Amino acid sequence: MKVLVTGGAGYIGSVVSEQLLNAGHEVTVFDNLERGHRQAVDPRAVLMEGDLRNAGEIDEAVMRVKPAAVLHFAAYALVGESMEHPQRYFENNLVGGMNLAAAMIRADVPRLVFSSTCATYGVPAGIPIDEKCPQHPENPYGESKLGFEKVMTWYARRYDLKTVFLRYFNAAGATERFGEDHEPETHLIPNVLRVALGKKTSVSIFGDDYPTPDGTCIRDYVHIADLAEAHLLALDDDHCGAYNLGYGTGASVRQVLDVARRVTGCEIPYDIAARRSGDPPSLVAAGGKAISQLGWNPKHTDLETIIESAWRWMRRYPDGYERAA
Ligand code: UFG
Repeated sequence: MKVLVTGGAGYIGSVVSEQLLNAGHEVTVFDNLERGHRQAVDPRAVLMEGDLRNAGEIDEAVMRVKPAAVLHFAAYALVGESMEHPQRYFENNLVGGMNLAAAMIRADVPRLVFSSTCATYGVPAGIPIDEKCPQHPENPYGESKLGFEKVMTWYARRYDLKTVFLRYFNAAGATERFGEDHEPETHLIPNVLRVALGKKTSVSIFGDDYPTPDGTCIRDYVHIADLAEAHLLALDDDHCGAYNLGYGTGASVRQVLDVARRVTGCEIPYDIAARRSGDPPSLVAAGGKAISQLGWNPKHTDLETIIESAWRWMRRYPDGYERAA
């Protein structure tokens, strides 16, 4: 199948592109390389540089490629930054997304797989979180993703367009070739590993007084290769609607730290810092719908395996892609 991958130079988009290519699909990556990396674009893919906020650029790309499906990853994805700069988030994630949708409608592209997030649920009504959980985002990032889900739900009713929303929990880990390289890095696992690598002196635990067994926040960490597999399944014609991508098991910040110590053999000093604004105490998926309806078959569910893969990648690219040999 001919597919267009927006944000294919980013963390999740690069791994999905790799799997699509391995499965024999023809991949064109559309990316402005603002936060993605040229080196993260699989050499078997075609790279088109462009920005979703420029309607003409995405329209031209979609018209030129005429894909059978679009996988849409390109977005800003930092909760804290979105609180500070909401306009940036709505313009890139929502307006940019709508430019893409307009181009797809004009070119009669029948299928969209959208990179959504558990941040659309906000502080959930209960744990584990299923797809029917009310969506009340607590930040502009989650709101911009939910806004695009809503727009696409209406478009799908009116236009000949099938849409799948994949709501990720915490993407983590790496494949042999592609991993996580953000600047600044805000995520827990890479920050913990940067300490083990000697790039940072200690990691901060943001709050140890949450109503959880050890007082630190609980998240559902999902291996990037498992996340990617769900996208390939979502391309199947039968599927539409929303699917949570999480394993249904949570790990606390302290548990992540303990596993990272075991994996790296390093002590990894930490300090206890104030809570980070907007962090819900616990986010764990009820992942059953993706398993039963998409046929998702996650294989790397063990936290140690996830952290080992991230550690392998980080030792190979200690300074990230750009500075790699
Ligand atoms: N944390 C620390 N220290 C750090 C970094 C993180 O204690 O240096 C904590 C956070 O407070 C949080 C947990 O580790 O409790 C996980 O934090 P991450 O930043 O790794 O991930 P988030 O859960 O905040 O964010 C992820 C995705 C977002 C998505 C969000 C949904 O990265 O894109 O889940 O809430 F929006």
